[in-house]
Amino acid sequence: MCGIYCYVGKKKAIPVLLDGLASLEYRGYDSAGIAYVTDKINIIKEKGRLDNLKKLLDLNTDTYLGIGHTRWATHGKPNKKNAHPHHQGKVTLVHNGIIENYQELKSLLKEYKFKSETDTEVLCCLIDKLLKENNNILKVLSKLNELVKGSYALGIILNDDLNNIYGIKKNSPLILAKSDIGNFLASDIPAILKYTNEYILLDDNNIVKMSKDEVKIYDSKLNVLDKKINTFDGDINKISKGKYEHFLLKEIYEQPDVLYKTYLENQNLPDLKKYNKIHIVGCGSAYHAGLVGKYYIEKYCNIEVNVEIASEYRYKNNFINKNTLVIFISQSGETADTLACVKKVKDKCDTLGIINVIDSSIAREVKNVIYTKAGCEIAVATTKAYSCQILVLMMMALKKDITNLISKINNLLKNDYEEIAKKIYKSEHLFYIGRDIDYYLALEGSLKLKEISYIHSEAYAAGELKHGTISLIEKNTIVIAIATDKDLVEKTISNIKEVKARGAYVIYITTNSLDQESDFYDEKIVIEEDIYQPLLTIIPIQLIAYHVAKLRKCDIDKPKNLAKSVTVE
Ligand code: G6P
Repeated sequence: MCGIYCYVGKKKAIPVLLDGLASLEYRGYDSAGIAYVTDKINIIKEKGRLDNLKKLLDLNTDTYLGIGHTRWATHGKPNKKNAHPHHQGKVTLVHNGIIENYQELKSLLKEYKFKSETDTEVLCCLIDKLLKENNNILKVLSKLNELVKGSYALGIILNDDLNNIYGIKKNSPLILAKSDIGNFLASDIPAILKYTNEYILLDDNNIVKMSKDEVKIYDSKLNVLDKKINTFDGDINKISKGKYEHFLLKEIYEQPDVLYKTYLENQNLPDLKKYNKIHIVGCGSAYHAGLVGKYYIEKYCNIEVNVEIASEYRYKNNFINKNTLVIFISQSGETADTLACVKKVKDKCDTLGIINVIDSSIAREVKNVIYTKAGCEIAVATTKAYSCQILVLMMMALKKDITNLISKINNLLKNDYEEIAKKIYKSEHLFYIGRDIDYYLALEGSLKLKEISYIHSEAYAAGELKHGTISLIEKNTIVIAIATDKDLVEKTISNIKEVKARGAYVIYITTNSLDQESDFYDEKIVIEEDIYQPLLTIIPIQLIAYHVAKLRKCDIDKPKNLAKSVTVE
């Protein structure tokens, strides 16, 4: 999702801005731009990757202040015109978020000629108009909350104030950092780590004014704030690919370490048994992790669990009361729909977050938080954070040692499954099937594959296929069938035989204790059995997706159209 990076300081700004924006690339984007100050404000923007923007810039330009942006299109196509920064009157700004009442605001700004289709440009005009009424930017920004509905993190510069950058945020992340070379506003912590590991988390409606020598933070009443400085305690060097070709592969291989760390650092988990109902809420893979959690909590704690997609949960009757626990799962801790769900229910029941990013918005909003220790996840498609989420959920239900599990994962990681990927990568359609826990893994496998390889893939509960979808099975259709549950394996095998009879090419994933020689599959992956089975099953599934995407020459770490931190609804 959009990334903001603003800098003012001693160094030439253009290389600093490009570097900072590159560290936000993982969020996902489709155009980029910067505005830098010489004796005036210069705006350069371009469609596509940062390399396209770089070609238009002279890195040696004498400029020491600038605002930068990577845009993930929401309102208006991903083109140069809609790219940020936007400029109207004396205001130039970059924006992350969505202005919900932009149409309404636009109708009040008829004197402006709009150049883009974005909601952002409306904000630009609004701020310019308010400055005409009262030429005091701090006062204008303090009024935004009353006028603007939606979410925004903004970096702003003004024609008649070329030494300062202004920032404000509401419902979108923005951090502030001071360093020896100057001051920064950024959407996320990795972007500042090259210069400092200290940062300030801005709260909603905080306003920032920063020059090269001074930084001031105000609340909405324009009182100056003295905010806590946080220290990033991760290893900065870990935010590089190291010996791996892609972050995704590196992150898959980090799983034994980060799972063990998550296990060690979360020995005192909440007691679920005091609740009579649990809801688990998340988006994407976090939702899939919730489904695995449901299986374990229902099986081992005997408590009813409903797993809900956050963008659905927020608009329906949730049937919660004080005996309900709602668990929110999010890697980034910033996903807009998940955050909105926390705000919706937090006064009615207990809330627990399973979150990867420390002090992120969801982590700060829930009553209790458990941090997964996956470390910085850079690849857009999640792997290690998903596994850590599952581990936390399983640990709450099981409370069992994971030492054996870790050595089994290490064994599995000795295979790369590239040969299996070679059988798949030319297909345009694929099915993942499984029952119960294996179906939940199938959903994640299918999502992983389509996210990074763009193969159309569907996950089906194995027994459901015959109610329609089996009509799509033809000669050589790839079906990846997962069967790791001893109580269901025979039923799943029956379903596999049904697709095999119709010509499917079957890749069968099972455990050593259920393994059998037979002719109902074409390829077989055998995994060691374990009580934490999903954390083993997921390894070949992730590696298959990776190798298929690599064979198809896809942009594995930054898949098209996707964003890592989804701060829009
Ligand atoms: C995006 C990412 C997914 C992720 C989902 C939820 O769509 O691409 O990988 O599962 O958001 O993100 P969260 O940060 O809330 O876990």
